[in-house]
Amino acid sequence: MAEQLRSRDGQQEKRQRFTKVELVEWLNEHNPDKVSSLFQEADHVRKFYMGGEVHIRGIIEFSNHCRKDCLYCGLRKSNDQLVRYRMGLEEIFQAAQEARRLDFRTVVLQSGEDPAYSVGDLCILVKRMKKELNLAITLGIGERSFEEYKKFKDAGADRYLLKFETSSPSLFKRLKPDSTYAERLRCLEWLKELGYQVGSGNIVGLPGQTSESLAEDILLFKALDLDMIGIGPFIPHPNTPLAGTPLGDLEQTLKVIALARMVTRNTHIPATTAVGTIDPAGRQKALQCGANVIMPNATPKEFRKHYQIYPNKICLDESPQNCRFCIEAMVTSLGRKIVSGFGDTLKHPHSGPLGDRKSHLPREDIFPIKIV
Ligand code: 5AD
Ligand code: SF4
Ligand code: FES
Repeated sequence: MAEQLRSRDGQQEKRQRFTKVELVEWLNEHNPDKVSSLFQEADHVRKFYMGGEVHIRGIIEFSNHCRKDCLYCGLRKSNDQLVRYRMGLEEIFQAAQEARRLDFRTVVLQSGEDPAYSVGDLCILVKRMKKELNLAITLGIGERSFEEYKKFKDAGADRYLLKFETSSPSLFKRLKPDSTYAERLRCLEWLKELGYQVGSGNIVGLPGQTSESLAEDILLFKALDLDMIGIGPFIPHPNTPLAGTPLGDLEQTLKVIALARMVTRNTHIPATTAVGTIDPAGRQKALQCGANVIMPNATPKEFRKHYQIYPNKICLDESPQNCRFCIEAMVTSLGRKIVSGFGDTLKHPHSGPLGDRKSHLPREDIFPIKIV
């Protein structure tokens, strides 16, 4: 068995040694046979490192207020067409309780950058969710100070999602005028230092983005040693300055997912809602070229339609229960299985707080491999 794993791993080693030039070549490759061989390879790498299980995380979008003005996003503060909402702390708790009832063991608390919730209140909520619901908690509430991140961590938050969106500092500056690339990366460093399992990611097809810049995004995924990587296509929103610009390409997004899998190997990679929005089978396709996580919407029905980061978002008229069942059917139809568990990172096997590691899977510490 060890022999077999070692020889398989030898192949993995070859596969994941990508230089920037090679990544650019793959991103510019349009030969259908070659692209499909890339997807198959990525699927093998996923199977080898992550197994056939699909992890689920329920997303609760608790506020669509945002103090920022990112050019691509429908929640930007200048969008005065959006009906804004804030869920109360009790409502958020109840949504988490419903998620737990539906067998989610991780919830993601996501919002725009909304200063209306005090850090103290959010910490009380996190503590209560940990104590009463025994959930793994991921926060996705934007850029904060080190002290605030520390308070959330001390309250029991396990993970944090903060996409860098693009690794091009100039594109970042143009699209995210209220922030800088350096500040974003500093937040990611702090989160790591504080012991969070850290998720980041990018948007594929942003106006002005090049294959070179996407290749650098992929190398940055590796350099940041991320626990999770969210990759989604750009979807132009009519009430933003990027209205009318071209939609991100499905195949290019899938290629970024496949290459991210091959370069980072044992990272959690979700089949994102955005990929399911541009193609009805987008999430299934992502699960077949590297993805191993799916994050169904667990937001109560009445709020969903207002969390319009981009238009035509899927599942707006569904209940959390509908989405949960839909995902079960989707995963089963692919011959895969939803795993009920916290779905911790596989990267730092002895450091996480939750302890449901998959010790049978090959890991970094057993097969140390360097990327060039
Ligand atoms: N298209 C695709 N993704 C978007 N996001 C925001 N606006 C868009 C858009 N128009 C994503 C960003 C952000 C997350 C909240 O939503 O990646 O991190
Ligand atoms: Fe706010 Fe995030 Fe949208 Fe930017 S991407 S406007 S920070 S919700
Ligand atoms: Fe929501 Fe399919 S995931 S209906």
